[in-house]
Amino acid sequence: MDLPDIFQPYDKLIEIEILGQRRFVPENNSLLRCFQFLAMENISYGDFCWNGECLNCQVWLKNGNKEKAVMACRTTVIEGMKVVRLAEGIDLSTTNDGEINTPYLVDRPRLTTRKFPPPGFLARL
Ligand code: FES
Repeated sequence: MDLPDIFQPYDKLIEIEILGQRRFVPENNSLLRCFQFLAMENISYGDFCWNGECLNCQVWLKNGNKEKAVMACRTTVIEGMKVVRLAEGIDLSTTNDGEINTPYLVDRPRLTTRKFPPPGFLARL
């Protein structure tokens, strides 16, 4: 497969698990880049900032008996990584290795309840 120059250099593909399904992705790359490797069109046209600001790439990793939320664009993939939930915008329904059944999609996370403008802001103008 011809890949664009968007991937970090890698020597091999490593195995990870996404929603219980095994996939092989390029080592040394972020998890979001690995999702792009699997579903080039869907992820390339997705609503992602790629720099840790939008949280649209949030995924949950299995961490012992717990889950840990991380930003896929800021997390380097490691062998055996288990992704147990995905943010809604991560569309892996059509990958180059077959469909990933995604029953565990979650709504886009809202980590802030900040209102805009903040109280008193307009009074200062
Ligand atoms: S793509 Fe925006 S925070 Fe990861």
